[in-house]
Amino acid sequence: MSTKDDHGHAVPGDAAENKGGATILLFFILGFAASLVIGWGIFPKLLYSTKPQPFNFNHALHNQEVGDCESCHFFREDGTFSGVPTLAQCTDCHEDVLGESEDETIFVEQYVWKEREVPWHVYSRQPDCVFFSHAAHVIQAKMGCETCHGDIGTSTALKPYQENRITGYSRDIWGYSIAGFKTHTYDRMKMDDCAECHEQAVGSVDQAPAPGVVGRHFRQEVVPAIYPLDRQAAVGSSVQTHRDACFVCHK
Ligand code: HEC
Ligand code: HEC
Ligand code: HEC
Ligand code: HEC
Ligand code: HEC
Repeated sequence: MSTKDDHGHAVPGDAAENKGGATILLFFILGFAASLVIGWGIFPKLLYSTKPQPFNFNHALHNQEVGDCESCHFFREDGTFSGVPTLAQCTDCHEDVLGESEDETIFVEQYVWKEREVPWHVYSRQPDCVFFSHAAHVIQAKMGCETCHGDIGTSTALKPYQENRITGYSRDIWGYSIAGFKTHTYDRMKMDDCAECHEQAVGSVDQAPAPGVVGRHFRQEVVPAIYPLDRQAAVGSSVQTHRDACFVCHK
């Protein structure tokens, strides 16, 4: 090979190297953008399937008709919570179709007359291994329903129910933000979220030994200053501290 040849190759070679760098950067940016689109956009769409409720239910209308939540969501004599209402809470009024609404027609014809309970999808339902007591929170700790459920109880329409295809759990447990950010107490209801509130409200429920002066200062002053609200759950609120502590919330 001649030097001319060598020389002739050397000059475009530099340009090719620069081009190579630019191509790598371009591919990096494209790949990064693609993974964002897949991770934040497509993955949640694939992970969750949307299931329609059997028919719409208007809370605002019924609160006016009935007057209070307790007519439909009440505590039984033994302290257990009735949860979603059964037909017994409806048939006083809906023995026959009252109005023009299509939802009411479906309800009366398909469920009331056939004496079938409505197969509601429960947004807040936890896995079977979790023990949750409404009495401890609503009666003892005097917490409002919206702390954990948001505004479902005053809404005019039920929101779409989304089910995780892998676990079968409701999306309300994992939350709508894939990154786990939350701005309200009811945005997600995972183990950490239960534990976060327990630690703040009742140190005793999580049986972790109380932190010392420095530890307490760190958690109360330093952590909130560094982390926004939604990240504090990640610090100092692990429930995995005491063996018996698991059986507060697990059966
Ligand atoms: C105190 C009486 C009363 C009770 C109890 C009651 N409803 Fe109603 N409901 C009404 C009235 C009044 C309407 C309005 C009817 C109209 O004019 O369209 C209505 C409307 C409806 C509608 C159609 C409107 C909509 O979009 O929600 C549905 C569906 C319905 N009720 C379901 C139920 C179910 C399920 C229960 C039991 C959990 C129940 N209702 C309990 C009085 C009652
Ligand atoms: C007439 C009966 C009735 C009254 C009164 C009523 N609800 Fe409901 N509620 C229902 C029915 C039916 C559902 C089932 C829909 C579903 O699966 O979410 C429901 C569901 C809920 C849920 C969702 C549970 C879940 O996770 O799926 C919450 C929270 C709730 N009600 C809160 C309230 C509050 C708070 C009030 C009072 C301000 C109230 N309700 C008054 C009938 C009633
Ligand atoms: C501390 C949080 C918290 C508070 C406060 C709270 N709930 Fe719940 N609620 C939950 C959790 C968690 C579940 C799921 C329980 C499970 O699946 O074992 C639930 C389940 C429910 C259900 C569905 C139960 C079923 O049949 O599966 C209804 C209805 C409901 N809550 C209504 C209410 C109402 C009405 C109030 C206010 C009086 C209220 N909740 C207050 C956390 C809470
Ligand atoms: C926003 C605050 C808050 C959230 C969220 C919360 N809790 Fe609680 N929980 C409390 C408080 C306060 C008490 C203490 C009530 C009392 O006994 O005075 C309590 C008590 C309990 C108890 C009874 C403990 C005992 O020793 O009797 C259980 C069980 C429980 N919570 C489970 C759960 C589970 C499971 C979740 C999540 C699905 C949860 N909690 C979410 C505030 C919360
Ligand atoms: C404050 C209440 C609470 C305490 C205490 C608690 N858990 Fe949980 N745990 C939950 C809730 C609620 C869920 C379901 C939501 C989720 O997956 O985060 C759960 C889910 C789990 C799961 C996943 C189960 C499944 O089917 O997805 C495991 C495993 C688990 N917990 C282990 C533990 C262990 C081990 C401890 C004790 C070190 C413990 N938990 C203490 C509330 C609690």
